[in-house]
Amino acid sequence: MSPKLRIEGLQKRYGRLHVLRGVDLTVPAGAVISVIGPSGSGKSTLLRCVNRLEEADGGDILLDGQSIRELRGPALDLVRRRIGMVFQQFNLFPHRTVLDNVVLAQQVVNRTGRDEAVAAATDLLRQVGLTEKLDEYPGRLSGGQQQRVAIARALAMRPEVMLFDEVTSALDPELVTDVLDVMRELARQGMTMLVVTHEMSFARDVSDEVLFMDGGVVVERGDPATVFTAPAQERTARFLDRILNP
Ligand SMILES: Nc1ncnc2c1ncn2[C@@H]1O[C@H](COP(=O)(O)OP(=O)(O)O)[C@@H](O)[C@H]1O
Ligand SMILES: [Mg+2]
Repeated sequence: MSPKLRIEGLQKRYGRLHVLRGVDLTVPAGAVISVIGPSGSGKSTLLRCVNRLEEADGGDILLDGQSIRELRGPALDLVRRRIGMVFQQFNLFPHRTVLDNVVLAQQVVNRTGRDEAVAAATDLLRQVGLTEKLDEYPGRLSGGQQQRVAIARALAMRPEVMLFDEVTSALDPELVTDVLDVMRELARQGMTMLVVTHEMSFARDVSDEVLFMDGGVVVERGDPATVFTAPAQERTARFLDRILNP
């Protein structure tokens, strides 16, 4: 498979704090790569550098083989549309309906006409199981439903790659499944996904590759069965033990 996304030697510092210390990572087209690791290891910073919410200090980010690290202006806007991102916090517009939350971004960002945007939004909201909630306001939905609106909104940009940053971490346990099911279905449909997650069952069952990050480096990577059952690195083993046997 050709790499849709490649990260090469990525470096990021916040002042004296060296957060990313040369991260390499390849996401083949249609693959799901999961990133696990302790809090503070640089996982969110990695994703934010990939879709250029943060400026990296070194290394490169290639989308379809083209460097996107130095892009500015309209070329950067285009790349941000090609790389969708969903966060732990849903960041929905509270005074807009569910439907409008998904419609508005398309109209503003992609300059899609209203009718076309409504049709696309309705279809995406059906796919995430929210057909009943089109006219509801976000504050009246559960966290899991709000997160599914956020996923639909990201998908409305027709991204080629989706980045997920611990999207189920703020949810009550009983709401996690519906969100993970949506992500599983996206993976099944062939979406290219880079997923930071604490959901070990998702990482194990859905990913093509799992990376364990600690201290701003990738400590270990491999197929999920191997990483989860026979990790090569002591640090990985300790982390998994803590997560899986709390
Ligand atoms: N905007 C920022 N300014 C300064 N330090 C930051 C900023 N964002 C993250 N950090 C620091 O960088 C490190 C990695 O953070 P983060 O990427 O959020 O880790 P993770 O997502 O793995 O928990 C942490 O020590 C965090 O405090
Ligand atoms: Mg994080």
